[in-house]
Amino acid sequence: MTAAEPTGSAGPTGSAGPPPESRAAPRCPVLDPAAAALHAEAAGLRAQGPAVLVELPGRVLAWAVTGHAVIQQLTTDPRVSRDYRRHWPGVAQVPEGWVLGSVAFQDSLVNHYGDEHRRARARIAPSFLPRRVELMRPQVQATADRLVAALGELPPGGRADLRGALARPLTMTVICDLFGVPERMREALGELIDTVLDSSLAQDAALAAQTELYVRLGELLAHKRANPASDLTSDLLLSDRPGELPLTDHQLLGTLLTMIAAGFETAVNLITSAALELLTHPEESARLRAGATSWSDVIEETLRLEGPVMYLPLRYALADLDLGGGVVIREGDPIILGFAAAGRDPARHPDRPDVFDPARADKAHLAFGHGPHFCVGAQLARLEAEVALRTLFERLPDLALADPGRRPARLPSLIVNGPAALEVVPRPEGG
Ligand code: HEM
Repeated sequence: MTAAEPTGSAGPTGSAGPPPESRAAPRCPVLDPAAAALHAEAAGLRAQGPAVLVELPGRVLAWAVTGHAVIQQLTTDPRVSRDYRRHWPGVAQVPEGWVLGSVAFQDSLVNHYGDEHRRARARIAPSFLPRRVELMRPQVQATADRLVAALGELPPGGRADLRGALARPLTMTVICDLFGVPERMREALGELIDTVLDSSLAQDAALAAQTELYVRLGELLAHKRANPASDLTSDLLLSDRPGELPLTDHQLLGTLLTMIAAGFETAVNLITSAALELLTHPEESARLRAGATSWSDVIEETLRLEGPVMYLPLRYALADLDLGGGVVIREGDPIILGFAAAGRDPARHPDRPDVFDPARADKAHLAFGHGPHFCVGAQLARLEAEVALRTLFERLPDLALADPGRRPARLPSLIVNGPAALEVVPRPEGG
């Protein structure tokens, strides 16, 4: 590990670094672990160049990329890998319980490279093809109906947290039903996944939560082994693809974690953020009702403006990557891509990039990533969001914010982006 050199031309190894005080070079920007101003921070980094060396929680150094074009370029560059085992020389120096490790070290398709990635993806992706996802619509609708009906039963003036009462249980139910997670295991798993995505956690708390999460996933695996059924976990356990070894237990746990976490922690933010935007922009709700914009416009614009995934750590350079402007990412250096930052890049969206405008013609975003790791669940997430939002706003037309004028607190996470809660009044008094 060499010292950090924030100017970028002479690279660091970008792994767990020495204490900043001991570095010869000036200290590089430190990403706020609580992500209090995620977009402003990303805009500041973007203004500094195509990639900026930053310090992640745990004093891990990585190159942050926050521009649309460079993210697209690096996600399709075969000289960039997600495989920490093969391609991150500095991994040995990363402390156990590293707060971003719950994602960075998942032993699943998301952290595989090349042929290994293609094989792992082929086990999962067919279940999420558009026509399969469309078959899930009636079940998603039934869950949305039930949850929205419960909101409608609140007395006039009663408050509820939309994230906790609709977005989270809906997305959790869908993914847990698909993977056959028994009801009694869901809440604990969900809470632990929430916890390990909190990048402001102290290392011992992160380690405790990560350990507990793997214990719970192990219980789920044992349960599915003893009680196979018609679900995707049981399919993974059968895993009798010709010419392929069955998944190891570690890979099974990693895959379950990837699928369950990716399945609900992301779409929950899409639904909550879209609801927040509509409730704070009544003129846009009116245009939607009048048919001037569609649910798809609202969802794509929310994905552009408030991508539910910010940084999904990490990627590694397999060779020196010259990004121009004197910035060279050295072989072995870690990279983090700011997927949620891409949609606000003024080079891609010169017209009011920070403004919610579902009518804008170009809503290009990289919220679901790009290239070989493009999100497997994009279609499902869009369907869940459309069903949840349409049901909510059609059945509760007077829905209002409980604390108008107060911006809800954000999730303390560099990984996921969204409101930590969204207090609403489903049936305002006199409404
Ligand atoms: C709005 C909701 C969602 C967003 C914003 C989102 C975002 C992303 C992003 C940015 C990636 C790319 C990671 C990378 O290249 O580093 C990704 C990959 C992935 N997503 Fe999603 N996701 C969402 C919903 C879902 C759902 C519902 C599922 C599960 C069914 C899912 C499963 C996955 C999987 C398995 C991968 C890894 C694909 C691979 O490595 O080949 N996602 N997602």
